[in-house]
This record gives sequence, C-alpha cells and structure tokens, in this order.
Amino acid sequence: MTSSLATTDNESVPDFPMPRDARCPFAPPPQLRELHTEQVRSDQPLTKVRIWDGSTPWLVTRYDDQRTLLADPRCSVDQRRPGFPYMSPSFREVAERGSEPAFLTMDDPEHARIRRMISGAFSIKHVAAMRPALQRMTDDFIDTMLAGPKPVDLVHALALPLPSLVVCELLGIPYEDHEFFQTKSEVGMRHDAGREEVAAAHHALLDYLDSQIEAKLANPADDMLSKLAAHYRDGDLTRRQAASMGLLILGAGHETTANMIALSVTALLEHPEQLAAVRDSDDPKVLASAVEELLRYLTIIHIGNRRIALEDIEIGGQTIRAGEGLVIPSITANWEEAFFPDPDRLDVHRDARRHQAFGFGIHQCLGQPVARLELEVVLGTLFRRIPTLRLATDLEKLSFKNDGIVYGLYELPVTW
Ligand code: HEM
Repeated sequence: MTSSLATTDNESVPDFPMPRDARCPFAPPPQLRELHTEQVRSDQPLTKVRIWDGSTPWLVTRYDDQRTLLADPRCSVDQRRPGFPYMSPSFREVAERGSEPAFLTMDDPEHARIRRMISGAFSIKHVAAMRPALQRMTDDFIDTMLAGPKPVDLVHALALPLPSLVVCELLGIPYEDHEFFQTKSEVGMRHDAGREEVAAAHHALLDYLDSQIEAKLANPADDMLSKLAAHYRDGDLTRRQAASMGLLILGAGHETTANMIALSVTALLEHPEQLAAVRDSDDPKVLASAVEELLRYLTIIHIGNRRIALEDIEIGGQTIRAGEGLVIPSITANWEEAFFPDPDRLDVHRDARRHQAFGFGIHQCLGQPVARLELEVVLGTLFRRIPTLRLATDLEKLSFKNDGIVYGLYELPVTW
C-alpha cells in the first residue's frame, strides 16, 4: 500500500535527527512531533527520513508500532549488514573495519549468550547493594562543590564524574583514568570526527581495556572485568570480545546517565512545584516515580534506536522491505497522548513506568537499575543539601546537545 507519508519525493524527505526547540528544550523536536502527529492521524506507521550519510531509512514514531518492531526478531541490530542506518560516522567506521561487535549490536542467540555473562551485576539485589557507596560518592562530590567558588558547572562537578566513578567501580578500572577514556569516548559521539581519528580512539580504548583484562587475569577481583577475563580464560569469549564488552559498558554507562542527571536537575529547577514535591517528600515512592517521569519527559537517546529488516515486514498496511533501515525514537512514544495524557506536563506523580526511554525487547537497557539508582540518589540528595540551588544563567543561554547521539547539556552553571 502507498501513502502520502510513505511516498514523499526524495527532495522533501526530512533530515533526522531534528533539533529540539531552544524555547522549549525538554520537548521533542517540533518537526518530529509533527511527523508523529501525522502518523497517528493517518494511522500509518512509516515515514522516510534522511540521515547523516544520505540514506533514507523508515521512521517509526508510534508507541505500539515501536514495541511491535523492537520485539520482532526480523528487526536486526547487526551493523555489518549493508544498509544499516548507522547512528554516526564512528559507528560505521568501527563496523566497516571489522571490529569485534559487543552484544548491543548482536542478534539472538549470540546476544543472549553474551548478555547473560554479565547480567548478574545488574540484578536488582546487586544494584541495591551499591546504594551506600553511591550515596557516599554523591555526598563527596557535593562537599567539594560547596567548598569551592560559585557558580559551579554541575556537569563537570557532579553529573559526569558520578556515573564515571560508578562505571569504574563496576568494571574494576582506576578512576584516575577517566580523563583518558572520556576524551576518547567523546570522539565516537561526535559527528565531525574524521575516520582515522575515530578508528584511533576506538583502538586506544580497546587496547586500554585489553590491558586491564590482562591485569585481572593475574589478579582477579570482584568486578566485571575479572568476570570477563575468566570467561576469556575458559574459552567462552575471545580476548577482543571481552574488551569490546568492557567498552560497551564504559560507553553506555556514563554519557547517558550524566546527561540524564544534568537535564533532570534543569527540568526540576524550571518546574519549582515539581521540585518541591520531590524535595519535601519522605516517601521513596515519590522519588522513584519522579525518576520514571523524568526518563519519559526527557528521553535522551536523541538519535533513536536503529534496526535493519532481515525480511519483508508488513505493519499497519505498509511494507518494510528486507534490507531497509529503521529509526525508532522513543521520545515520540513517550509523548504519545493516548499513553501519557497531557505529555507536555512534567508531573512527578504520574505513573510513567510504561515509558520506553530504556528501549524495548531483548536489547532493553541492561544498566537501567544502575541509572535509576544514580538518579534517585542524586536528585534525592542535591536539592536537600542545597535547597536554594538555582541556574546561574537563563535557560535560553544553556548549551543543549542537539548534535550528539544522546541529548543533554554541555555545561550547567548553577549557584545557591
Ligand atoms: C539514563 C541512562 C540510560 C539510558 C536512557 C539508556 C538507554 C538505553 C537504550 C535505549 C538501550 C537500547 C538500545 C537499542 O535497543 O538499540 C540501552 C542498551 C544498553 N544499555 Fe543503557 N541507558 C542508560 C544507562 C545505562 C547504564 C548506566 C549502563 C551500564 C552501566 C547501560 C548499559 C547498557 C547496555 C549494556 C545496553 C545493551 C543491552 C543489549 O543490547 O542487550 N545503560 N540503553
């Protein structure tokens, strides 16, 4: 079947991703919202968009369609397949150079086999046991902030170092190395990085993790790299696979949560009545509910989840041909009126648990209990310890990341 959405001529195919509106920096990009509204109105699930390399994958914006496709084993994450809609040049560069994939870009059954090797570290019980250490780390960063001059850039004082430290603890790597791996990881997040630069940064990170695994082979500890080293020793993983998995955790674990912390603080400061509800309640359920609502409201994976069709797939009367790419931005689903009434309203008391900020299906975020815990501890501590915290500049002057894989803030000047 053809449709007005599906047959847009090549010239008028909209570029993706679209920027958010500077006057309304928390809401989905206006142009993306229009496409979503049109898909809902016309009851059609697919629209072509143009991504950075000029290719035109399908955009899927509706809540139910996203779930259907993310749960469909015919939708692959295998980036080595021709036509895959890469998130950025660096993802293509790494895939084309034949680098060992991590399980984020593997299909089942191999994905499940490898994911299982480390999933225990993210169990609810294991993560709950991290709370006292996380509380201490948060208090330490806030102590340092309070002892120094004002204003403070909250991104570099708390939002970024905390998840970095958590990831270092999880993996068992020294926090002193964070500048090295943050600088190298940033190369992979940038759209303007050259091919050689991307490849060099990626290999530097892999070599670094490889050397850490080597050290764990000799001196194992109770951490994830030691577990990966043991799996390598037992022949379950190659050495490069083990390093790739470490790199996945390092990459997925700090940039995401860091941006989520900075944006959440900003959004709450802009909604004082919601902030008061979070700060003044002793009920942990209010904080937990606020975290879910912020995950929904902000939905930071700016670039959308990416898939490629392995076979022809019929959905809602339209056809995705084998080999065609899919771009699946959770933010439109998380702002779909039918599922989240009055989606523009940040309401920390709303039940937002059905949001898709962590994706859906077999690749749903493995680190989500850690991300939730970090957000709960930071938001529950920061506003109590510094009740007069406020932006040190106007909202319009903040520099939001519209050009990355993850939406967020480059800097967040605050004072009190
Ligand atoms: C607020 C913070 C976070 C957000 C919004 C987020 C979001 C996501 C999303 C949307 C996916 C699915 C991608 C897809 O389907 O293609 C994902 C996967 C993943 N995330 Fe997160 N993430 C966050 C924090 C973390 C943390 C803290 C860690 C680890 C410490 C982590 C580790 C992973 C891993 C390992 C995967 C791959 C899962 C798989 O393929 O089976 N994430 N994340």
